[in-house]
Amino acid sequence: MSAENITYNGQADAPANNRIWRGRLTFVMAAAGSAVGLGNLWKFPYIAGENGGGAFVLVYLACILLFGIPLLMAEIGIGRATRLNAVDAFGNLAGKAGASKGWKAIGGLAICTSYLILSFYIVVAGWCLYYFWITANGTFNTAGTTIDTAFTGGTFENLLGDPVTLIIFSVIFLLITFSIISSGIEKGIEKAINWLMPSLMLMLAVLIGYSAANGNFEAAVDFLFSADFSKLSSEAIFIAVGHSFFTLSLASAAIITYGAYMPANSSITKTAFAVAGIDTLVALTAGLAIFPLVFQYGLEPGAGPGLMFISLPLIFSDMPYGQLFGSLFFFMLFIAALTSAISLMEPTVAWLERRFNLRRKTAAGLTTLSLWIVSLGTVFSLNIWNSPVFFGKTFFDALDYLTANVFMSFGAMATAVFCGFALRQPQLEAMFSTDPKAIPVFRVVIRYVVPAFVAVLVISAF
Ligand code: PFF
Repeated sequence: MSAENITYNGQADAPANNRIWRGRLTFVMAAAGSAVGLGNLWKFPYIAGENGGGAFVLVYLACILLFGIPLLMAEIGIGRATRLNAVDAFGNLAGKAGASKGWKAIGGLAICTSYLILSFYIVVAGWCLYYFWITANGTFNTAGTTIDTAFTGGTFENLLGDPVTLIIFSVIFLLITFSIISSGIEKGIEKAINWLMPSLMLMLAVLIGYSAANGNFEAAVDFLFSADFSKLSSEAIFIAVGHSFFTLSLASAAIITYGAYMPANSSITKTAFAVAGIDTLVALTAGLAIFPLVFQYGLEPGAGPGLMFISLPLIFSDMPYGQLFGSLFFFMLFIAALTSAISLMEPTVAWLERRFNLRRKTAAGLTTLSLWIVSLGTVFSLNIWNSPVFFGKTFFDALDYLTANVFMSFGAMATAVFCGFALRQPQLEAMFSTDPKAIPVFRVVIRYVVPAFVAVLVISAF
């Protein structure tokens, strides 16, 4: 039976506007593309480094298993059952359950979250693009003369201190994202994902091989997998919780929006496990590609956000074929960021299209333009506006903290309560019609386990 003639929840499989992924694999690739991004390749290694390594990794893995996967299932289900944007998806399900339409607000918060994340995501993606450019140009290829962290640190500081370059590269990245989104689901997103994801995996495989051959692999494995819980602060736990939401693209409407295009006959459970599995594997692989080099060169694993942009160029400058592999590395970061940025822009565009009855290109254009303006806040907070604006944090740090930690924890908790308590049993049965055996376990986990663990972990952080 083909996906086209299956009916779902009493509706035809294809939604009215005829948007649907070609198959489960496309959905897995798109959702994994959303999940795998700067969070895995840039953020995870440096937060794991800053928070002591092994014990942090263990808490992070527990978060993925205990609430990451159940929430992933919930969000895919909400999207597919309604085939609507995040706001209307919550509204529609709440209406059918006889619950308050106020639940729509969770969808609204989720869309705001993805929008705000994208406003700083494009700036960091711009750094990757810039570093690809300068690495390929031989900036770190010093042929005989050695460079030091003062040089690579200076290069990074110069970039952060230069709003014009930051704007140019973030705008290039934003426009590439716009061009894919405005071409539509099939001709834009699906086509791009089909190329980008396999290339990403290939690049990662090449880089880990290179790192294993040239670095101190044993020290990296030891650092990432031997847990010393005495180093685990309550703040580290909070960061691990927030990061598990961020890395799986939860509570930010991306998965709900992508779920709306998912074929009716694909198993949600298998899909959620596949997406979380790929995401986790990539995060750990990124650690195993970066830390061997860091240890080989006796550098500091907890070097913070600059780990990637200060330590790695130094290493690449000294290693065989460093210019080639260095460029490949930053190009991989750019591709990973792009597949995530697509999923960060789609929720706002899908909502605008329906809410104001706009053409896709118009909705994408408005989103892009407004995002560019908001992104200037992040750009300037790195240089001319480098002052605390919120709880002692700069605009950029505050936005990162607010979205990844506060909004996502709240949104995830609300989504769990919505699925566990507001939805009726027949709705859950329709939502998981492809996975009937999973429903009883899902219900208990989403009702009690997810809210309890998120609450305990978040409260323990204070
Ligand atoms: N999961 C992405 C990453 O790890 O970089 C970031 C992200 C994408 C967060 C999409 C939220 C989202 F909706």
